[in-house]
Amino acid sequence: MTSIMHMCCSIFSSLLLFFSFFTSASPIFPPHASPKEYFEVAAPPPAAAQFPSCALHLPQQEFANTTGAPPATILYTPPDDCSGPWSSVVLELVVSCNGTQRHRIAGIWLAGVEILRSSTVQATKAGASWKVQKDVTKYSSLLQLSNVTLTFMLENTVNDVLTGVLHVNASLLYYNDGDEPNFVAVSDGVGGRDAQFDTIASKRPRMKSQFFYEDPADLVIPIADSGVNGFWFKIENQSNSRAKGIQIPRNTYKAVLEIYASAHEDDEFWYTNPPTFYYKTNNLKSKRGNGCFREIFTTIDDLYVGSVSPFPVLYTGALNPLLWSPAVGIGAFDLPTYDLELTPFLGQLLDGETHFFRIGVADSIPYWLVNANLHLWLDSSSDVVEAKTVVYRAPDLDVQRDNQYRKLNSVFKVASSRQIEFSGFVSSSMGNSTTHVTYQFQFQNVIEFQKKGRLLDAEVFIKSRTDVRVVPPREAQLDLKSQATIVRKYPIHVRAMITPGSAFDSYSSKSEVTHEFEEKVEVELEQENYQSTVFNSQDSRGSLRSRGDEKQGILYGSSHVRQSLRVRDRNRCYSQTLSVDDGVIDENQVVDLCASPRLESI
Ligand SMILES: *[C@@H]1O[C@H](CO)[C@@H](O)[C@H](O)[C@H]1NC(C)=O
Ligand SMILES: *[C@@H]1O[C@H](CO)[C@@H](O)[C@H](O)[C@H]1NC(C)=O
Ligand SMILES: *[C@@H]1O[C@H](CO)[C@@H](O)[C@H](O)[C@H]1NC(C)=O
Ligand SMILES: *[C@@H]1O[C@H](CO)[C@@H](O)[C@H](O)[C@H]1NC(C)=O
Ligand SMILES: *[C@@H]1O[C@H](CO)[C@@H](O)[C@H](O)[C@H]1NC(C)=O
Ligand SMILES: *[C@@H]1O[C@H](CO)[C@@H](O)[C@H](O)[C@H]1NC(C)=O
Repeated sequence: MTSIMHMCCSIFSSLLLFFSFFTSASPIFPPHASPKEYFEVAAPPPAAAQFPSCALHLPQQEFANTTGAPPATILYTPPDDCSGPWSSVVLELVVSCNGTQRHRIAGIWLAGVEILRSSTVQATKAGASWKVQKDVTKYSSLLQLSNVTLTFMLENTVNDVLTGVLHVNASLLYYNDGDEPNFVAVSDGVGGRDAQFDTIASKRPRMKSQFFYEDPADLVIPIADSGVNGFWFKIENQSNSRAKGIQIPRNTYKAVLEIYASAHEDDEFWYTNPPTFYYKTNNLKSKRGNGCFREIFTTIDDLYVGSVSPFPVLYTGALNPLLWSPAVGIGAFDLPTYDLELTPFLGQLLDGETHFFRIGVADSIPYWLVNANLHLWLDSSSDVVEAKTVVYRAPDLDVQRDNQYRKLNSVFKVASSRQIEFSGFVSSSMGNSTTHVTYQFQFQNVIEFQKKGRLLDAEVFIKSRTDVRVVPPREAQLDLKSQATIVRKYPIHVRAMITPGSAFDSYSSKSEVTHEFEEKVEVELEQENYQSTVFNSQDSRGSLRSRGDEKQGILYGSSHVRQSLRVRDRNRCYSQTLSVDDGVIDENQVVDLCASPRLESI
């Protein structure tokens, strides 16, 4: 029996296994004499347009046969003559792999606080290299400390077939606003409809992070594991949620929880998973079940305080590795993080006692790597702040499932939504302000198996909207007032077809993935209003054919990728258009409207 799920191990994991043996010449993808350069289509951090004031190059880290081994650690101290505060800080990784390798997951923590989650690439014998840049300004309070542990977790396996050793060079680049901008125009793509952003862009760049971290927190506390095997919690199922007890300073006036999460093994493609009974009744062995809904939830002392919906990240081994070369999937080098505004709950936390923060993944199967950072802002003019939750409305999640079971050709639909509302006041030396938070979430998924289970079609739509409103009393300082709306959308459509070949274990596959990450943030402050948007859309389609015996593992394939990214915020008006056919870049146009000469004359 050859359903896509029986071969699930084929379509979703053996494909990458096969690809690992991809050592000989292929008519379409000739072997590279030099390591292949990978990249993620992403806007550089705002600060990257300036010269750093100083830099710290950390010693190279090597990851050979590190599966099951403890993480690599080094001591971090900022450079002597450059101890901060900085207007922004960028973490830069230069990674190389010197042989065949599968994709791996990596995490970097500073004093147990995660600062980057990244995946590595599916490398061929010639090896691979790539660079990752991330704005880490929000961790400034930790970056200013001396002799703190910087931890790198990257489990890799090296054997006769998988020869690639990973080398990671990490650097921290520190910036100060006073330094001259160094914009470089790549090409001119100025159009009339960009005029409103032109005005914003022409102002001197303000190197500030996004809304929640407008000013970096005074303290960041990890909600994470011990660090023996990395600080992430390995979560195997819904009841396997994990908690950490912490005490927070009694003068905290604002709290935001930042969540890092990645899905692996049987849950790597959770959004395409049918209910488990589909396998059982069809006598299939796959374990990629439990339906296609997942949600990351958080509690404090067992009180539900919010959830986030994960963005489906496709790693470089997904479906057809040729689709993610040389441009990786959205977020593969810098996985998105998710923020929960917890200020309305400070009333429960400011008693100086230990409180338990718990994180779990609803409906999960093995496994998820999840941990969180609690960002806290402290009132420097008082020892104790008073706070209380005044509105708590969190109805149970509503999940509707419609199973149209027709043996191998079944259709499974899931629709879910949530609407929650919290508010609480915080009375500090800056006055008594009330923080209102509403969160709305919408999830729709249709999974269809056709052609006796050999064709999978999954269409997913995820939308979340968070509104945060901070209202000061009439007499208070007005600059405390702020309001923000953050909308994120993650549509994804996966269509994958597998056809067995005549030889044992040979097959061909066709896959199409249309994938988007959209974010729109609208902020109203007393002094300034601004908007920032990210629109990243990747359309990847291709085929793959294994020929002859598996050991030779010769793969033939094709790939066609169209990607379009637009990022507009206070600092950037970046656009990138990419077109790749059969691994060759036809077009990679970067338009930096901020750098347009026309703007300089404004
Ligand atoms: C990585 O850092 C080492 C020194 O630690 C240096 O010799 C090497 O050239 C660097 N590699 C890259 C690719 O920058
Ligand atoms: C890698 O580690 C595994 C398990 O720890 C061990 O069996 C294997 O021999 C190691 N391989 C190499 C090349 O060191
Ligand atoms: C990869 O690098 C390691 C050292 O980091 C080295 O031992 C190994 O021989 C290298 N492999 C290749 C194929 O160059
Ligand atoms: C950091 O550790 C080094 C070596 O142990 C020590 O010389 C130095 O004084 C420490 N710095 C701080 C700020 O604690
Ligand atoms: C959930 O995972 C934990 C940890 O692996 C395991 O001990 C427990 O039995 C699992 N529970 C269920 C219901 O599968
Ligand atoms: C803060 O304001 C809220 C409502 O605006 C009020 O109920 C509360 O008593 C005030 N708290 C303090 C300490 O003034």
